[in-house]
Amino acid sequence: MPLPKAELHLHIEGSLEPELAFALAARNGVPLPYASTEELRHAYSFRDLQSFLDLYYALTAVLRTEDDFHDLADAYLRRAAAQGVRHAEIFFDPQAHTSRGVPIGTVIEGLGRALDQAEHRHGVTTRLILSFLRDQSAESALATFESARPHLHRVHGVGLDSAEVGHPPAKFREVYRLAAEAGLHRVAHAGEEGPPAYITEALDELGVERVDHGLRCLEDPALVDRLAREQVPLTVCPLSNVRLRCVDTLADHPLRRMIDAGLLVTVNSDDPAYFGGYADDNFAAVREALGLDDETLRTLAANSFTASFLDEETKAARL
Ligand code: ADE
Ligand code: ZN
Repeated sequence: MPLPKAELHLHIEGSLEPELAFALAARNGVPLPYASTEELRHAYSFRDLQSFLDLYYALTAVLRTEDDFHDLADAYLRRAAAQGVRHAEIFFDPQAHTSRGVPIGTVIEGLGRALDQAEHRHGVTTRLILSFLRDQSAESALATFESARPHLHRVHGVGLDSAEVGHPPAKFREVYRLAAEAGLHRVAHAGEEGPPAYITEALDELGVERVDHGLRCLEDPALVDRLAREQVPLTVCPLSNVRLRCVDTLADHPLRRMIDAGLLVTVNSDDPAYFGGYADDNFAAVREALGLDDETLRTLAANSFTASFLDEETKAARL
């Protein structure tokens, strides 16, 4: 039985399995430049974050209707539940869809319908996190946020993702201020490929409560001390880090060093359809590669609830 856990770093577009991509392509009459699911899987060999993002954005072309977004989220939640996920805080990238002419309401309402059913169908509670693409302009993020306003009852927080290097967090100060004003939680990807200074900037300029990845904090001992002292959660994604070549092999992954430094670390899947595994696959991979014992794995699972945006009473019941 997989350990009960929360998944805090999951891009719903990154859960699009080749089989579902082909089914949606057929349903919507969208041509795919691959002859089969096997051929598509063969393309899953990445040099870095950008080479992955190119394919990730290209495949979003099959997502057109509310039902598509519903089916995508429902498929993820079914798989997640089988891996012990009891609570999922799910990123979505509205700009990847609105730029193709899909209205933001179609995206949010489709995902929202699947999330509404998730506790009953799959035993998973959920939150939705609207992520801005950091390689787009600050104006585009602001326009996206304004267009999301009629749907904010379905949104729990904002995030920041896509190509990191050259796109520092401070560019998005204004939209994060508006998000905070609207009562939303704030997280951001930082220190995946980008420097430790982006982690500090995300904390100080955007007021983030959690850092997604945060791996490169280890290059700055003063930052590690701060993250440990303030118990800022880091949502680490081991299989992703290997596939995107942030670390050479799983055996080199700094997860254990991060735990030993007193950091509040969680283990997550990022884009499971592309990186070779869902939440418990990531747990199993680090147990094997880093020799983590049962107590450490239980701590990681407990951290995932501690670091979640569940209310304190619900958290206490899950821990
Ligand atoms: N979008 C989807 N996966 C991502 C990742 N690992 N880093 C940045 N943006 C992403
Ligand atoms: Zn991510």
